[in-house]
Amino acid sequence: MKITVVGAGAVGATVADNIARKELCQELVLVDIKEGIAEGKAMDMMQTATLLGSDTKIIGSTNDYSKTAGSHVAVITSGIPRKPGMTREELIGTNASIVKTVAENLLKHSPDIIIVVISNPMDTMTYLALQATGIPKHRIIGMGGILDSSRFKYYLSQALKCSPLDLHAVVIGGHGDTTMIPLTRLAFLNSHAVSNLLSADELKQIAAHTMVGGATLTKLIGTSAWYAPGAAGAALVESIVRDEKKVFPCCVALDGEYGQKDICLGVPVVIGKNGWEKIVDYHLNAEEQEAFNKSADAVRAMNDVLKTLSI
Ligand code: 2OP
Repeated sequence: MKITVVGAGAVGATVADNIARKELCQELVLVDIKEGIAEGKAMDMMQTATLLGSDTKIIGSTNDYSKTAGSHVAVITSGIPRKPGMTREELIGTNASIVKTVAENLLKHSPDIIIVVISNPMDTMTYLALQATGIPKHRIIGMGGILDSSRFKYYLSQALKCSPLDLHAVVIGGHGDTTMIPLTRLAFLNSHAVSNLLSADELKQIAAHTMVGGATLTKLIGTSAWYAPGAAGAALVESIVRDEKKVFPCCVALDGEYGQKDICLGVPVVIGKNGWEKIVDYHLNAEEQEAFNKSADAVRAMNDVLKTLSI
């Protein structure tokens, strides 16, 4: 098994480090456009082998995609991260051409590849990768909802003073500060609905904190977060390569599901060896469906910006 991670910045390197530690593949290729970064971080990770007990073979490559040939899965993290005060959507002008080129290069060397997109604005970058490569839609998966759901569970665990591992909670819709939808109605502490444990106001506040969870961290650390995004990317890759059939909220191409089509947006999907295998219907109520439609409208508007870019 061979996996590629493109972008050796904080998020990409963390995805790669998690993949290597979990020994999800025999060979891991880390690619970056900046001279030496991927080679250096690959070597540094390899030097943890005797300390961490994983001997995944990690290769760094400065923009040589021939090294990625035969990859089963690739994770695209390349592009610039946001700075404090920026929205993810503001990155589109820089990141769109990068993501398009990267997706095309990956496909050239690995025709059967499954592509995971993390670069922002992720929903639109996922849509762009699908359009640019033309590969079957089940092999293009945007990672945002897994990360947002982990933040949702963090905030719920803080309020409930419980282990986040006892929580089931999911965020669907876009991966944007105003487009994501924490589904408080379907959040559970073991078999107990959290709506029976927290007031409506508390839940509203937790949902609001979740939606700006990324921006909160960017304000604190001066750039986009990387530990949780990296772990979320690796968890998605793990369900693919181990064929775990986990149900994760991921950004995938919709063709009528959840009332939307010709868009890539976060919905619960079964993740296995072929990529995303099935969209799971959570039977949204009227309020949730309205929020989902508004989220889709905002993401579609971002997708339309692609037409104005010369990429
Ligand atoms: C985040 O929310 C990078 O979009 C990612 O932290």
